[in-house]
Amino acid sequence: MRVALLLTFVLVSHSVVAQGLLAPVGIENPQRAWQHWTLNCQGCHLPSGLGSVGGAPDLSRVAQFLWLPAGREYLARVPGVAASPLGDADLAEVLNWMLWRFDKEHLRANFKAYTAAELKPLRRRPLRMEASTMRIELLKQIKANPAL
Ligand code: HEC
Repeated sequence: MRVALLLTFVLVSHSVVAQGLLAPVGIENPQRAWQHWTLNCQGCHLPSGLGSVGGAPDLSRVAQFLWLPAGREYLARVPGVAASPLGDADLAEVLNWMLWRFDKEHLRANFKAYTAAELKPLRRRPLRMEASTMRIELLKQIKANPAL
């Protein structure tokens, strides 16, 4: 009985930790990140992140892409991100802000914030026409793999 209680405690406390990220990371100045989002992103993605102008996708499940290394790269290389006029550090902050603001539910506890150093080389290889096929392929992999 005591063992069972202890086990329950361990499982419950573990699941709290595994639930997700408990506080935003990689956002030095949330106000600034929001302003950058307003000026550079929401024209297409809308203030709610629900998207649609010119086919901009709904961002309410965007953090799922981070579950795959290729998905993490994808988020940094989609045209609206890679070709944004924002500098690397500001862009990293906006991405981290966007993930927390629109989809903290899918942000895992082990999430590592995007940094300027990570974005710099990825932005040099922006996706073009292949963005939509890559998106479909990534979503297929995420759905097909319950272990993710
Ligand atoms: C001109 C419209 C436009 C602007 C501006 C724009 N985006 Fe996008 N965004 C899109 C479209 C369209 C896609 C779908 C991928 C593609 O075909 O380019 C997309 C895809 C994305 C994705 C991948 C999400 C998914 O579900 O595939 C992210 C993340 C994203 N944008 C973030 C941003 C951020 C952050 C900014 C501002 C720095 C931004 N976008 C600016 C139109 C835009």
